[in-house]
Amino acid sequence: MNILILGSGGREHSLAWAVNQNPKCDILYCAPGNAGISKVAQCVDLNIENSSDVLKFCLDESIQFVIIGPEAPLAMGIADDLRANNILTFGPSASAAKLESSKAFTKGVCDSCNAPTAKYARFTELESAIEYVHEQGAPIVVKADGLAGGKGVIVAMTLDEAINGLKDIFSGAFGKAGAEVVIEEFMEGEEASFFILSDGKNILPIGTAQDHKRVFDGDTGPNTGGMGAYSPAPIMTKDVTSKAISQIIQPTIDEMAKRGIPYQGVLYAGFMIKDGEPKLVEYNVRFGDPECQALMMRLGAQALDAMLACAKGELNNYKLNWADDHALTIVYAAKGYPGTYEKGSNILGLDTISESTNIQVFHAGTKEEENNIIATGGRVLNITARGSSLKEAHRLAYETIEKIQWENGFYRNDIGWRAL
Ligand SMILES: Nc1ncnc2c1ncn2[C@@H]1O[C@H](COP(=O)(O)OP(=O)(O)O)[C@@H](O)[C@H]1O
Ligand SMILES: [Mg+2]
Repeated sequence: MNILILGSGGREHSLAWAVNQNPKCDILYCAPGNAGISKVAQCVDLNIENSSDVLKFCLDESIQFVIIGPEAPLAMGIADDLRANNILTFGPSASAAKLESSKAFTKGVCDSCNAPTAKYARFTELESAIEYVHEQGAPIVVKADGLAGGKGVIVAMTLDEAINGLKDIFSGAFGKAGAEVVIEEFMEGEEASFFILSDGKNILPIGTAQDHKRVFDGDTGPNTGGMGAYSPAPIMTKDVTSKAISQIIQPTIDEMAKRGIPYQGVLYAGFMIKDGEPKLVEYNVRFGDPECQALMMRLGAQALDAMLACAKGELNNYKLNWADDHALTIVYAAKGYPGTYEKGSNILGLDTISESTNIQVFHAGTKEEENNIIATGGRVLNITARGSSLKEAHRLAYETIEKIQWENGFYRNDIGWRAL
């Protein structure tokens, strides 16, 4: 079948790499893609937030399956438009994507199905929000309701921080996304991510992971889109995983179906785990980046079969083949990221790396010019390795990243520290 992947990050490169290995895949396209993706897929210059452009391409090129990478096209309803035109699509409807695009919506779903999560209140006005923060005291967490590119959450250790955060949000720092605010009780514990596929009714767990949000070693410096990840996450023990499924994930999927907005696609749950009890921090309606790179490295070609079974509503008949393996990915970013950084520097040494099922360099912000790989973004490469232990994957990934010469780049030296 002809397949189209939407997106251009390391996440989409890893998806393309996995899908391309599956014999069911004939022509693989990716829009807009990047220099690395162009090695495994035909990159097409499409505006992926424009439904009619995407639909026209699908009809012209006889696309039989579309995999949507990022949240923005999902929140805009691209999956709805494709399905309305009988194109098999992996990804939730705009209504179901509210599990990511509205934090207040998700809290409401948790209330309806009794899923453990932080106690909360919702506000549309600054004054009453400030009053509530005074009542509750610090630490406390303030969240813009809508999509804010990972910048809409303030984990406030003091009342002042919380109040300043509220003032920012209500003065329009996040536009429409900040018209409503969710204020949450501060949860202590260790965070982990859990990825499941759902076809609207059935669920299929596809792996756990932990990421590294802060830019510098020792989890210091500002938050980023993620500087590295590994899978599985040891804190997600069998017991925690089964509690997460029975108390949080399955009740959410059931509640969505009950509301007439069944959830189809990958559901990425962020948990806070304390004393073996998981509580929901948030949902995302797509794969995490860079977590996806570690997951795809472990799943390989069967990722396509799983996504197809999901999109067709056939997850009840599908089983994954699990290897007892580990994967770890290190993000190579441009100096200055997540602040301002230069674009256009040259990356050398990539041709000295022999890629295999155990080592892959997934590209994010890159382009190719006259056989040179040029950095064009903040997060640029994802050096990903797989091994029989996390230690082995870690060793391989760091051994590989040292072969790359990129003066303008930097990476964290402690990816995986929590588990190692
Ligand atoms: N109630 C909470 N208690 C403690 N920390 C929280 C809480 N909610 C969020 N956080 C922290 O803030 C981060 C971002 O919050 P999250 O809801 O995941 O928003 P987003 O990823 O959309 O920015 C979380 O990964 C977690 O570290
Ligand atoms: Mg988050």
